[in-house]
Amino acid sequence: MTESATRKTDSGVKDPRIIVALDFATEREADALVARLDPARARLKIGKEMFTRFGPEMVRRYQGQGFEIFLDLKFHDIPNTVARAVAGAAELGVWMVNVHAMGGEKMMTRAAEALQEFGKDRPKLIAVTVLTSMDASQLSGVGIMDTVENEVTRLAVLARNSGLDGVVSSAREAGIIRKSIPGEFLIVTPGIRPKWAETNDQIRIVTPADALRGGSDYLVIGRPITRSQDPLEALRLISEEIEAVL
Ligand code: C5P
Repeated sequence: MTESATRKTDSGVKDPRIIVALDFATEREADALVARLDPARARLKIGKEMFTRFGPEMVRRYQGQGFEIFLDLKFHDIPNTVARAVAGAAELGVWMVNVHAMGGEKMMTRAAEALQEFGKDRPKLIAVTVLTSMDASQLSGVGIMDTVENEVTRLAVLARNSGLDGVVSSAREAGIIRKSIPGEFLIVTPGIRPKWAETNDQIRIVTPADALRGGSDYLVIGRPITRSQDPLEALRLISEEIEAVL
């Protein structure tokens, strides 16, 4: 990966745009992949499956290898419980953690406040708006009669007003979120597929280049890298595609 596929933060530290989603059933498989990756070129996302099986130990191990971790546990509970959970994530030293915006303003505000005491090294706190598995009919089934777009926008604005750093969103919704929320607000985007990759079970996919053009800051990419015969080459190709846009 070349220099321009990462961003330099104020402190001069590299800020890779690619977050590799580690979705494996065994530690052995995850370790084997991580051993081949370079922390200057990619961050790692650990979600519910791996965290439930392997816990904070796995997070610490990869941090020890220099990787920054997005802990994708999508907390959704009463405000006090979520505030304590994100504080736990901060103590673990993760780079990013998330909650469901559907938990409401009080829950998100309390979560954001709980991170203040960790200062500038606190994790970035982002919100899931509407899961991409939800369409209008699924939404109406839980009593939300609005369109997916309107609901995404409403929850993104609520997250912003609650002091969160950004949202997870489909790249297709990044544009309307940027329009509704001017200024610095992170958009983290899964469902990314380079043209050469299989789509797997993702339906509304977007290429890395289009996601960045559409306003995404960070790209969550799983199988195109993790299931590739040559994960490093896959990462390199995606980085090249990103570089061409930046
Ligand atoms: O392998 P793939 O690139 O599809 O992995 C995408 C990752 O992003 C997975 O960990 C998946 O759970 C997550 N994700 C997603 N769509 C969302 C939210 C999260 O695919 N809307």
